[in-house]
Amino acid sequence: MHTTEPRPMSARKSDALSGRARVPGDKSISHRALMFGGLAAGETRITGLLEGEDVLRTGEAMKAMGATIEKHGDEWIATGTGNGALLEPKEPLDFGNAGTGVRLTMGLVGSYDMTTRFIGDASLSKRPMGRVLDPLKEMGLQVVSAEPGDRLPITLRGPKHAAPISYRVPMPSAQVKSAVLLAALNTPGVTTVIEPVATRDHTEKMLAGFGASLEVETDADGVRHIRIEGQPKLTGQTIAVPGDPSSAAFPLVAALIVPGSDVVIENMLMNPTRTGLVTTLMEMGADIEILDRRNEGGEDVADLRVRGSELKGVTVPEDRAPSMIDEYPVLAVAASFAEGDTVMQGLEELRVKESDRLSAVAEGLKANGVDCEEGEASLRVTGRPGGKGLGGGTVKTHLDHRIAMSFLVMGLATEKPVTIDDQTMIATSFPDFTALMTRLGATLD
Ligand code: S3P
Repeated sequence: MHTTEPRPMSARKSDALSGRARVPGDKSISHRALMFGGLAAGETRITGLLEGEDVLRTGEAMKAMGATIEKHGDEWIATGTGNGALLEPKEPLDFGNAGTGVRLTMGLVGSYDMTTRFIGDASLSKRPMGRVLDPLKEMGLQVVSAEPGDRLPITLRGPKHAAPISYRVPMPSAQVKSAVLLAALNTPGVTTVIEPVATRDHTEKMLAGFGASLEVETDADGVRHIRIEGQPKLTGQTIAVPGDPSSAAFPLVAALIVPGSDVVIENMLMNPTRTGLVTTLMEMGADIEILDRRNEGGEDVADLRVRGSELKGVTVPEDRAPSMIDEYPVLAVAASFAEGDTVMQGLEELRVKESDRLSAVAEGLKANGVDCEEGEASLRVTGRPGGKGLGGGTVKTHLDHRIAMSFLVMGLATEKPVTIDDQTMIATSFPDFTALMTRLGATLD
């Protein structure tokens, strides 16, 4: 549980940012690297792992189910149980703040004949788990106990023999898609996931790398059909985790809104299911140069040179939401400094993140003098170039790391400082955030 005292932090108007920054490893890939490494036979060697609290909780969960996970120098080495051979955990699995960890693990154990209890912090305990339990119940899972609205703590009991299903994911969610694909690993026969709107594809790509037999077909309507054969042999792999675009977003937007900045962000994942923010910022007139695009370990990565820019408001197409879902809070910050209105639509999923991010962003903007309008699933932000008159407010972060970091970025370019009520949660995804931003020239205290 999150029991430490809240630690406020303020960001102040800063001089031009400069230098090179290497952001931590991608959170989605890091979770999966520990999970699949903890499952696959033999050794998985991982470099660049995000050592944030969320990911470390996933590692602990895999250890509680029989995997060995150790750090040797810069490398993490996971020795898996072998697919189909996870052990029943003796204690509840505590996922802290991590939605990805808990939802993917529910899928992973959902087809095992064992009982697993899941707990988490106050933020995670408010988030809906029914979206992963629904398909898993079709495969034979029993929900032994849950709080109202399918919330944590939850105890699950898997079937003796799970049944393969064909499941159309009702909302754009990589976590739901992944939970079904992971349950399929211990289910005989072919499981099919139908994904009307493409979301991040790390589970598909990485499972194929570990040896699963997986077919992905996109039909004439752009709907993805993912078929996975059950009970594959999975074998340990070598994984180099690229830099997280969702973390890179913070120094990136900071460099754009602090005049005169010139920053290079190194080794950022450029998987097209993750780069919606870069596309949007470029449409707003951002000076972003994509350097040395290369392929590393099956993923595209690049270095990004970012310079202070005069931004213009845009309307972000709704169908771009899945590829930048975690980046809307920091996009709203960029929009606060743009000329004119930025309109974001199709944001319903923001309401069920670590906080209700749509209202948390709107409240934070208003507290700092930004003119904005929150709709049911939309946000309009009217920018003020130069940030004149903006700032001076305190933002409630609601145990949400991305709200915390977004508003600290904002305060680097507003006339008055921006304060957040608690910086603690930043450690869930970006433990080095303050040090990295300070090195670039940010004033944070
Ligand atoms: C993630 C999927 C997304 C994203 C989250 C990470 C993943 O959640 O917001 O931070 O690693 O699969 P949803 O599946 O709820 O959209």
